[in-house]
Amino acid sequence: MPEDVLTQGIALNDKEALGGSILIIDDEASIRESLDTLLNLEGYTIRMAVDGEEGLRTLDQQNFDLVLLDLALPGQSGMEILPQIRERYPDLPVIMITAYGTVHNVVEAIRAGAENFVQKPWDNEKLLADIRSAIARHRAEEENRQLKRAMKERYSFNNIVGKSDPMLRIFDLVAQVAPSRSTILIQGESGTGKELIAKALHANSPRRDKPFVPVNTGAMPADLLESTLFGHVKGAFTSAIASKKGLFEIANNGTLFLDEIATMTLDTQSKILRVLQDKRFMHVGGVQEIQVDVRIIAATNIDLRQSVREGRFREDLYYRLNVITLDLPPLRARREDIPLLCQHFLEQFAKENDLPPRKLSADAMRAIVDYDWPGNVRELENCIERGVVLSSGPFIGSELLPGHITGRSFQDALLEHNPNASLFDILEDIERRIIIEKLERCNWNQTDAAEQFHIPLSTLNQKIKRLNIEIRKRGRE
Ligand SMILES: Nc1ncnc2c1ncn2[C@@H]1O[C@H](COP(=O)(O)OP(=O)(O)OP(=O)(O)O)[C@@H](O)[C@H]1O
Ligand SMILES: [Mg+2]
Repeated sequence: MPEDVLTQGIALNDKEALGGSILIIDDEASIRESLDTLLNLEGYTIRMAVDGEEGLRTLDQQNFDLVLLDLALPGQSGMEILPQIRERYPDLPVIMITAYGTVHNVVEAIRAGAENFVQKPWDNEKLLADIRSAIARHRAEEENRQLKRAMKERYSFNNIVGKSDPMLRIFDLVAQVAPSRSTILIQGESGTGKELIAKALHANSPRRDKPFVPVNTGAMPADLLESTLFGHVKGAFTSAIASKKGLFEIANNGTLFLDEIATMTLDTQSKILRVLQDKRFMHVGGVQEIQVDVRIIAATNIDLRQSVREGRFREDLYYRLNVITLDLPPLRARREDIPLLCQHFLEQFAKENDLPPRKLSADAMRAIVDYDWPGNVRELENCIERGVVLSSGPFIGSELLPGHITGRSFQDALLEHNPNASLFDILEDIERRIIIEKLERCNWNQTDAAEQFHIPLSTLNQKIKRLNIEIRKRGRE
C-alpha cells in the first residue's frame, strides 16, 4: 500500500499503530492481564470490566474506540451484552473473544453485529492487525460524518465526498466561481465527477432555482445536436412537422451543461461560439434572433489543448470556454479519498436497497485502496454496489470484489475466504453468487432470470429461498 495514503488513521496499515482506547470485558483475570500487557505496549489505553453489566456502565462513562468482549461471561453472556452495546453505540466496533470450538456462536455473533472474533489462544499479530483495522474503519466513518457536516455548513454540496488536498482545492474553487456568470471548463478522466461538480456549480449559483440542463454533445450527430440545442422552426427539415424550442431556450436564466464537447464538429463549435459571444442565436431554419441568458459549463475527458493543436477544436472557442478551468484529479492521485467514498457509497446503497449498512472487511479495503481505478469514482461506485448486492452478512470481504481488483482468481478467493468450508458450502456460495449476478443483469426480474437459466420459475424461487437471497428493490438504473 502506498505510504502517502496513510494519513490520519483512515487507511489501514498493519504496521502502524493508531492508538486509541479499548475496553476489555472478560471474567478471566489471566486473559485480561495478557491483553492489557499486549495492548499497552502498542500504545492503546485500556480499561477492563469483569462482566457485561460493568462493561455497559464503563461504556456510559467514557468514549472508546473498540470493545473486546468475551462470549462466555458470568451473568449475562457476551451474546446478550452484544445487542445492548449495538443499540447504545451502533458504530462502536466489538471484537468477540471465544473459546476454541464455538464456531456456531461466532457466526451468530457476527450476524448480531460483532466486527470480528478472536479464538483463544490467539495469535498476537493477527489480533493487533484486526484491532488496528477495526479502529481505523471506525474513525473513517466518524470522520466522514464530521466531514459531511462541515461541508454542509460550508457549501451546499454534501453529496460530494473528498478530503484530499486536490479535492479541497476544487471545493474552494467551486465555492469561489459558482456565483459568477463565467463560463467554466471541467476537465478530468472518465468517472472523476465532472457532472457532479457541474451540478454543484449550478446549485451554488444564483441560478439554482432555474433549470440545469445537461446535454451530451458527443452522443448525437451534428444535425440533431444543432436542432436540439437551438430548436427549429416548422418545416426546417423533413421531419420538422412542428416548431420546437432548443435547450438554450429551455436553460434560459439557468445553466447549460455541454458534456463531452471535444467531439462536436467544427461547424457546431462555431455556432456555440456565436451564442457565447452575442448571447443570441437562431432556430434551425429560422430568421429571427433569440436572446438568452445562459451560463455555460462544459466538460471533456480529452485534452482540449491537444485537440486545438490538431485542428479538431476551434482555438477561439477554447479560449472562450477556458475562462476558468477545473481539473478533476483521477482517483489514484487522491487515494486518501477512497475510504471516505467507500463509506459514502455503502450508506447510499444500503439506503436505496432498504438494507442495513454493510462494511468492508480490512482486506477488501486494502485491495480497494491499492487498486489503480482507471474508471475512477464511477468504477469504485459500481464495485461497492456489487459488493453490497452479493454480501449476505454485515461484511463485504475481498472475495466479493472482482478478481482484477484483488489480483486473485474467483477460485482462489473462494478457497482463501473459507479454508475449512465443505465442498457443499463452497458450491452453495457459488450458486448463490451466480443467481444474484444473473438477477442483477435481469434487473431482478425473476421470470427473465429463470428463462435465461432454462429452469422453471418455481425452481428459481426455491433456490432463492434456500440460499437466503434477498430480493432487492431496484431504485437505480
Ligand atoms: N467526489 C465524489 N463524491 C461522491 N460521488 C462521486 C464523486 N465523484 C464522482 N462521484 C460519483 O461517481 C459517478 C461518476 O461521476 P460523474 O458522472 O460526475 O463523472 P464524469 O466525470 O462526468 O464521468 P464521464 O466522463 O464518464 O461522463 C457518479 O455516480 C457520481 O455521483
Ligand atoms: Mg459525465
